[in-house]
Amino acid sequence: MKQGNLIIKNAAQLVTCSGFSAKKGRDMSELAIIENGTVVITDGIITFVDKDANCPPLSDFPDHIVMDAKGKAVLPGFVDSHTHFVFGGYREEEFSWRMRGDSYMSIMERGGGIHNTMTATRDASFDELKEAGYKRLDKMLEMGVTTVEGKSGYGMNKITELKQLDVMKALNKEHPVDIVSTFMGAHATPKEYKGREDDFLGYLIGEVMPEVKERDLADCCDIFCEKDVFDIEQSRRYLSVAKALGFNLKVHADEIVTLGGAELAVELEALSADHLLHASDKGIEKLASSNTVATLLPCTAFSLKEDYARGRYMIDLGCAVALATDLNPGSSFTNSIPLLFALACIYMRLSPEEAVTALTINGAAAIGKADKIGSIDVGKQGDIVILEYPSYKFLPYHIGMNIVEKTIKKGVVF
Ligand code: NIG
Ligand code: FE
Repeated sequence: MKQGNLIIKNAAQLVTCSGFSAKKGRDMSELAIIENGTVVITDGIITFVDKDANCPPLSDFPDHIVMDAKGKAVLPGFVDSHTHFVFGGYREEEFSWRMRGDSYMSIMERGGGIHNTMTATRDASFDELKEAGYKRLDKMLEMGVTTVEGKSGYGMNKITELKQLDVMKALNKEHPVDIVSTFMGAHATPKEYKGREDDFLGYLIGEVMPEVKERDLADCCDIFCEKDVFDIEQSRRYLSVAKALGFNLKVHADEIVTLGGAELAVELEALSADHLLHASDKGIEKLASSNTVATLLPCTAFSLKEDYARGRYMIDLGCAVALATDLNPGSSFTNSIPLLFALACIYMRLSPEEAVTALTINGAAAIGKADKIGSIDVGKQGDIVILEYPSYKFLPYHIGMNIVEKTIKKGVVF
């Protein structure tokens, strides 16, 4: 991917989010803002960040494009650290059923839900999945997303799990948005293994996971740790093998009922525990005293009409919270960053500062990349967003509106 030379000068606010690891609790409010700031990107990497007045003369940078950001806020590119953006088919009928009162899990138990998308994803060709994925990435870029995490998990057999991961690998090469891939074969038990969950996990652990590792197709492994899906013991087994193979861990934890997924994520030193709508007090305490990021997905709670995760309480207790869209065709068919900001602030009572941290440096930490992205610091990738407005505070306030004027990826303007 192209790497650019760019100077963004005179920003009303340069919201640096400076840091190289997740911010916890009170530190999430610290955005390290520089007023009248300038950032210089050389060969795609940030080489200068300071007040405009301290910037060397522009004549020192004959190869750089210069942008004036007067009256605009400039932030790190957003990191959407939890999505399932490569999938076949749609589930618009199920949405109608849910609005009439069916529950998400009852639809899944009847063979719909994840199983429905599994069939459509198995049936889709590599090119069909890639084309749909490319379009979704385009929309993400428009809303300021510069890195996205994407999960497999709609194959649940070797051929389709590898197809999804291969699609993400190809997209990562061709599309400006960077993709961090996660193997999530343990998303549900497919019908051919119905009632034999342990055998299915044995198949994933023995035959699929090692090949994913060998072909370097994913950084992380994830599992749907949930009542009637995979219990704590099964999740521990799957994740322990993944860890031993060198994968980073992520867990779909305590989404529908309180099961102890948060505690398990901490025990196994996972990068993140995600969802957490029903995380116990103990689970939240454990998260607060660990390096595991609590990744909250308010668009899912909104779409499923469930109570939101206790974001305010988690931050007050000292957790590192990240926010992500959970884009998928069932529980959260949206990749809207504006909606995410609004829901996080209005319903989970995050401050605008905390929400910005959650979508930048903490999102980066949730995918193990806080040393390279998620803040405007010298040495990091030149991934930046420029807003139409002078303050980051417009992000949750201008509800549901995309106020990103330009997204910059490795110094190239989009
Ligand atoms: O994060 N909960 C499990 N997995 C996804 C939903 C997948 C789907 O419904 O297709 C989630 O919500
Ligand atoms: Fe998910």
